[in-house]
Amino acid sequence: MQNALADEYRRLSRDTTTHQPLAYLRLRRAIRNVIQHRDIEPGQTLPSERDLSQALGLSRVTVRKAISGLVEEGLLTQRHGAGTFVAERIVKPMSRLTSFTEDLRARGLHPRSEFFERSVGEVTPEESMALNLSPGVLVARLHRVRYAEDEPLAIERSVVPASVLPDPHEVHDSLYEALEHHNCRPVRALQRLRAVLLGARQARLLHVTAGSAGLHIERRGFLDDGRVVEFTTSWYRGDIYDFVAELQTD
Ligand code: GLP
Repeated sequence: MQNALADEYRRLSRDTTTHQPLAYLRLRRAIRNVIQHRDIEPGQTLPSERDLSQALGLSRVTVRKAISGLVEEGLLTQRHGAGTFVAERIVKPMSRLTSFTEDLRARGLHPRSEFFERSVGEVTPEESMALNLSPGVLVARLHRVRYAEDEPLAIERSVVPASVLPDPHEVHDSLYEALEHHNCRPVRALQRLRAVLLGARQARLLHVTAGSAGLHIERRGFLDDGRVVEFTTSWYRGDIYDFVAELQTD
């Protein structure tokens, strides 16, 4: 693993297209890349700060700075006295508006969706409130199970104005990629989370036992001009996801 990381770091140092003059940012990118390429697996230990600084000819302060940023992001975890590991649970910073697909790819996992429904229909009263749409307007609906490889992680039901996404079959794995294609990817979102016990059907779809802990999440995504572009309700498995928020005093 140390060799793969050293090779990647040197490759980035030579790469003039992505030239990153700051060594700690270059190392951060190299660690991210080896995780993404699965040269190091979730749960495995990163080489020690001392070994890395020797192998790469960097100061320990630089190595520490590179690592601490990834610990804050949730990609790495540290246990006192035991070292630094690639995070096993999916730790999702709440302040960044990312998609399920991006979160998983950043961890070297292969995301995919299985759809129950992709349809267009008239907005319901609840959807019209959430999306600020008038009665009678058409919406695209997507109902799917989200997987990492073969492991189901979440169930999601998304509603998008049909003026933005006329054909929900354009969505293959990523809703945000399809929205981006229409220049309508949300730039801001409001998200509400609460703890739930997963019901029998949800538990069966997520391969857990009925009554297991889950997270119920509602996201309303907004465009720059304030239009609501997405209303998604999700049920995430509580045993896999950690949501982390950075808090600041005023
Ligand atoms: C997360 C959010 C959803 C959002 C989705 C987009 O799962 N909870 O609100 O719709 O990401 O992800 P993707 O582009 O992979 O479909």
